[in-house]
Amino acid sequence: MTQLKSLNSIGTEMIRSDFPVFGKPLPNGKPVVYLDSAASAQKPRQVIEKETEVYENYFANAYRGVYYFGARVDEELEATREKTREFINAESADEIIFTSGTSMSINLVAYAWGRKFLQPGDEVLVNETEHHANLVPWQQIAKQSGAQLRYLPLTSDGQLDVSQLDSFLTEKTRLVAVSGMSNVLGTINPIDVLAAAAKEHGALVMVDGAQSVPHIPVDVRNPNIDFLAFSGHKLYGPSGIGVLYGRRELLESMDPFLYGGHMIERVSRDDSTWAAIPAKFEAGTIPIVQAIGLGTAIDYVKEIGFDRMHEIEHRLLSYAYERLSEIRGLRILGPQIDKRGSIVSFTIEGAHPEDLANLLDLKGVFVRHGHHCTMPLHDWLGIPASVRASFAIYNSESDIDALIDGIEFAKRKLRLI
Ligand code: ALA
Repeated sequence: MTQLKSLNSIGTEMIRSDFPVFGKPLPNGKPVVYLDSAASAQKPRQVIEKETEVYENYFANAYRGVYYFGARVDEELEATREKTREFINAESADEIIFTSGTSMSINLVAYAWGRKFLQPGDEVLVNETEHHANLVPWQQIAKQSGAQLRYLPLTSDGQLDVSQLDSFLTEKTRLVAVSGMSNVLGTINPIDVLAAAAKEHGALVMVDGAQSVPHIPVDVRNPNIDFLAFSGHKLYGPSGIGVLYGRRELLESMDPFLYGGHMIERVSRDDSTWAAIPAKFEAGTIPIVQAIGLGTAIDYVKEIGFDRMHEIEHRLLSYAYERLSEIRGLRILGPQIDKRGSIVSFTIEGAHPEDLANLLDLKGVFVRHGHHCTMPLHDWLGIPASVRASFAIYNSESDIDALIDGIEFAKRKLRLI
């Protein structure tokens, strides 16, 4: 056991040493205890160096120049598109659209598919745990198209109540919009069950993979997912780059979302025709260097492997659960650990989440507080806000010890002890 524990920590230490941000103390002299990877993950040296390599050696605009820099950038971008295809097992690299992030990817589907195909009387199935990014676009497109949103109920511990699917997923359902993992409760949603039920009723499935893609392997062909959105910045990649996967026939049937350069086939004074996918959905200059950096982030994640990542994150989650459960007045939100990824949100009786986050910051412990872009979920929980600690491959048990010490410190400051 001792040997296993030390091997585990050596593994984590080696991974951690890839992340330059952890190599120096904070201005207050404390080490960084970064527990906000669900908001944005830190970046390994490999990703940072790749971005620098492009800027220092061959940066140019993409898909425009035949000269060496332009051709090199195009080659790197297409290599990333192919790596992304392979990463999620899409059939074709043409089905990989580069966007600015998950919100943009979901908005693209809402506007380009929803506005064209949703009709009065149609239904979109959502649920109260969704991030606003996978809720507000559907709410607004439903209002514009006359479609209705329906909410799949939750079980008392905040899981999707799939036993009620038969009443909520009907012939009127055109789309099921669901996250792979809740960004607050950490719940891993049963996409296989939802996708199978959706197919039976002829509905499409849009998965918000912002939280799940960095932690759980995804195969868009098994179960069949029609649209998948995720962000580079939560996958140890650069910010400003995201991905939309869409099934070819769907992407081809949709109209463009943004108009402009690169997305056209022919433009005359009065009209235009559109380029083939993926260009049809990549108007303007895409985030070139960020997209190339995303390719390196995918290489990095694959090198560590999902099994190893899961092992680290699950160990941290179990330890956090155990230690947080010992704190009086602390309520952990959501299901037991076997149903969730490496996210723990909680409240402490008598403590405002913002005060807790501020006091933890004094100890160098970084957590997110607030409604985490999930107001309907917080309404369902009966609380205005919560504190969230999220773990990634560079965290260790000592980070969780620092969180616990920080919470005890905060409780003392707030006179809750
Ligand atoms: N969606 C990110 C989060 O949950 C920003 O924090």
